[in-house]
Amino acid sequence: MTSPSALDHFPVSGNLTALQKELSNTHLRDLFANDPSRFDRYTLEAAGLFLDYSKHLINDEVMASLIKLAEEAGLPEKRTAMFSGEKINYTEKRAVLHTALRNFGDAPIMVDGEDIMPMIRDTRARMKAMTEQVHSGDWLGHTGKPVKHIVNIGIGGSYLGLKTAINAMTPYHVAGFEHHFVANIDPNELSEVLRKVDPETTLFIVASKSFSTLETLQNAQAARAWMIEKGCAEQDIRKHFVAISTNLNAIDQFGIAQENTLPLWDWVGGRYSLWSSIGLLTSMVVGYDNFERMLKGAEAMDQHFCNAPLAENMPVITAMLGVWYQNFMGAESQAFISYDYFLRDLPGHLQQVDMESNGKRTREDGSTVNYQTGAVIWGGTGTNDQHAYHQLLHQGTRLIPVDFIAPATTHNPIGEQHPWLFTNALAQSQAMMQGKTLEEVREELSATGMSADEIERLAPHKVIPGNRPNSMIVPEKITPETTGALIAMYEHKVFVQGVIWQLNSFDQWGVELGKVLGDRLIEKIRSKDETTDQDSSTNGLIKRFKQFNS
Ligand code: F6P
Repeated sequence: MTSPSALDHFPVSGNLTALQKELSNTHLRDLFANDPSRFDRYTLEAAGLFLDYSKHLINDEVMASLIKLAEEAGLPEKRTAMFSGEKINYTEKRAVLHTALRNFGDAPIMVDGEDIMPMIRDTRARMKAMTEQVHSGDWLGHTGKPVKHIVNIGIGGSYLGLKTAINAMTPYHVAGFEHHFVANIDPNELSEVLRKVDPETTLFIVASKSFSTLETLQNAQAARAWMIEKGCAEQDIRKHFVAISTNLNAIDQFGIAQENTLPLWDWVGGRYSLWSSIGLLTSMVVGYDNFERMLKGAEAMDQHFCNAPLAENMPVITAMLGVWYQNFMGAESQAFISYDYFLRDLPGHLQQVDMESNGKRTREDGSTVNYQTGAVIWGGTGTNDQHAYHQLLHQGTRLIPVDFIAPATTHNPIGEQHPWLFTNALAQSQAMMQGKTLEEVREELSATGMSADEIERLAPHKVIPGNRPNSMIVPEKITPETTGALIAMYEHKVFVQGVIWQLNSFDQWGVELGKVLGDRLIEKIRSKDETTDQDSSTNGLIKRFKQFNS
């Protein structure tokens, strides 16, 4: 493992190392006590999101140096390169233009000499038409009944982003339809969905950028076989299947009608594809207009990212705070905790966006980095998680920066429940920052009438160190616009960090080896012969599997 060394190839890195030493004896409590303007100085608003980053282990010098670091890494130039369609995904020789999918301007965006905006507009129009056909009841199944169930078959980026967006926009769901996801190759998942749907009224969306992903193809084949088994004739299968991919030949071979096919392009990364035709389920669940509102929320964040000065730029600030902790303070992970039930899938989506993008070690010239890169991303939903892992956040030995995402209002006011929910986020954020000193614990215990001996025995266990950095992100409400802005903000955060770490954030070679080995080992599992040519663990586990499957 590399040590969490500073990024010393950047001139400003020495400053940051010195600042880290200086700040190591400072407590966030004191920073707040000594500076009443801290909240005003370290907050900002963009695209409907409000960020409070005042509870971070920073001062003006740290922030100025972090911004300098972003400049030294060439962030403004790299940002321009991405938005203008340069092939910044250099290992796959591809442009990175998920931002074009949420662009509603008139200017052309060129890839290989072609303006891609007309085909984006055309695909949006087709998504709208398909959505309206389902909603109006004009899309009929093989027995002439309208669609009621929509099943998305897709995994990774063809699943996580959609699920996050669809659940975030729950209050906007169009009544009368049920949607389902099948992602895993685990047959339990498909079986559970098929148990709930009706073959006469079900539309399957096969969403796969490559149309070669094992899980998706197996599930799609099984769904197709299920339809036939339930009485749908071969020639009517087209009424129940839509496909989205860059691989139109593979769709054709699968037998999905051309009119039920939506295109995708190689300049859309899988984990950034929720804005594309892969978002068809989203459009069908919330209605095309709300899907477009989400795109426009993301576009507003893109404009902020491109136009706001780096020091007032939300994705840049969140990214550079991450760099501060991972590279200068020795943090290893970062938690995202949503205080909104509808945002419960956000941490899972961010896990893919972040870890598949920046879980890397090789620079463009082939050299290996000598500093930490992508953090371990994890998280969940408040308040549930307060009763699970927050203990470690407050009293554990690790430094884990947290983003609390807590909308100021709810779609479902019931009594004081939402004020309590928000207060809990606030209290966790405050507790992480201020902690509880030994003196405070002693005073508190003494007030209960406890003996001095007992106080000394118990007090150390109740001390909470505090000084744990965290952000609060407070949209007014979770709407299609703020959903789009929030996801786009984190996408750009990941991009900025990739620039600092000199990574290609847009390929994913690391996931290939497992796939290749899986293809080899399935032959061993299928074979009647005992496997003896693998390592002893693999041989033994194959034997155990066969013991119960012969
Ligand atoms: O896990 C690797 C990966 O390629 C992801 O990047 C992608 O989102 C996922 O598989 C699914 O890929 P596809 O949309 O091509 O089926």
